[in-house]
Amino acid sequence: MKSDSGKTVSTWMGVDSTLPQDSAPVESPVDVCVIGGGISGMSVAYLLARDGRSVVVIDDGPVGGGETARTSAHLSSAIDDGFVRIEKIHGPEGARLAHASHAAAIDCIESIVRDENIDCEFQRVDGFLFQAPGTSPEELALEYAAAQRAGAKVEAFPRSPVPGLALGPCLRFAGQAQMHPMLYLRGLCQAFLRRGGRIQCGVRAEAVHDGEPVRIELQGGRILEARSVVVATNSPFTTLFAMHTKQAPYRTFVIGADCPRGGIPNVLMWDTADPYHYVRTVPSRTPDGLDLLLVGGEDHKTGQADDGPERFQRLERWMRENFPGAETVRYRWSGQVLETLDGLAYIGREPGAKHIYLSTGDSGMGLTHGTIAGMLLTDLIQGRDNPWSDLYAPDRKPVKATGEFLRENLNVAAQFADHVKPGQAQDEDAIPNGSGAVLRRGMHLVAAYRDGDGHLHERSAVCTHLGCIVHFNSTETTWDCPCHGSRFGVDGQVLNGPASKPLGEAELGMPQGVGSVDLRPAQ
Ligand code: FES
Repeated sequence: MKSDSGKTVSTWMGVDSTLPQDSAPVESPVDVCVIGGGISGMSVAYLLARDGRSVVVIDDGPVGGGETARTSAHLSSAIDDGFVRIEKIHGPEGARLAHASHAAAIDCIESIVRDENIDCEFQRVDGFLFQAPGTSPEELALEYAAAQRAGAKVEAFPRSPVPGLALGPCLRFAGQAQMHPMLYLRGLCQAFLRRGGRIQCGVRAEAVHDGEPVRIELQGGRILEARSVVVATNSPFTTLFAMHTKQAPYRTFVIGADCPRGGIPNVLMWDTADPYHYVRTVPSRTPDGLDLLLVGGEDHKTGQADDGPERFQRLERWMRENFPGAETVRYRWSGQVLETLDGLAYIGREPGAKHIYLSTGDSGMGLTHGTIAGMLLTDLIQGRDNPWSDLYAPDRKPVKATGEFLRENLNVAAQFADHVKPGQAQDEDAIPNGSGAVLRRGMHLVAAYRDGDGHLHERSAVCTHLGCIVHFNSTETTWDCPCHGSRFGVDGQVLNGPASKPLGEAELGMPQGVGSVDLRPAQ
């Protein structure tokens, strides 16, 4: 399938080129318009259609062309940020609800797979959290106790209890799972269409106006009306500040290496390093084939490093030290993670809106958070109570994460210094084929990319969200914004919000009204 989120190719992308869609015009108003056809959008669309609502999904690229195809597809109820941190911020009851919601998400996926007969390699597996070398054993002991208090089925071991897994002290979480995310997404789309849902790809929403009905402005001037709108675009483009000061974008890197069939235990693994490593196998589909070992990590803040080859090399080194049976590396890809201030996604009514809902802030648990969005937003739109609505409310104030808020937003403020720095290359002649750099031309900063044939492609380097300067990402051949994670193709088109407009013409400078950041906690 085609990805519209970067150049690298994940192991999930090769399989599916036929994600369903339709092109017949949609008659307004519909009950619900879902913007974004990834795991969150399709989960809420499917569950609402199952409840009898008329639903249309629109996506500016192909369904599943974003981050859903770039995950490692761990399905875990062991919270990514750790139960110690979640309990500290959200309290014991919050930690219990967080665990219960992710466990329910895995159950939900399992029941959809069964009910809709989706062949997506879904498997229940154990998950292991390993103590990374150089970290304190006490850290693992505290996590064990906090996980028990949160209701997780967890056991502690001084050494790996799994034959063939030579790793040290660890916690085992029962009842985790894994799957092929794109096969699941395709099955979800097909089940949604069978229930009368509509999917329209290549349709970009440019603005959403709350009201009765909600009006969605589409590219080209067309208006679509809906009683409710769900914005499931990974990073919402409908709020300028409210959500983007409460989450930070990171790039994460994954390699996939051949390994002998059954040679590496089929479990989920991650460690206590920071950033941590995450590992799983993709069992071979054929009796004589090789399994694939996925190893991920080496995260960095989006737009604040461009050293993908070194990060892939470090992952490979780590893999060979810990899994000597791994053979040829076949895949290298990267993806984007939105880390929230308090470790949990934002899912619910958009702050200040009545009929607009959003799901964002995957926090490294995109498939389960996306499925929680499906269950929670369906309940909210259907007027039903849901026990997780306060925990995930987008307007919640993470008072106990204020330090994190200041740290991330001071980092954003520092990015505005790029406006007065010299360009990264003296002039366009210094840019080799297949590379990009920001050039200074007087007051203007230009994002210049030279393609493989030597042709130069120039756009304004000023991000159309709030005016930071984009940086070249040579791993994905994209322009990435270091402030809130907007990403653009070398033609300037938006690949990832919160920006909703393409990079401007190269001669344009800083748009009016940008250049300062409000550091007060979001209300
Ligand atoms: Fe906010 Fe670029 S994403 S300024």
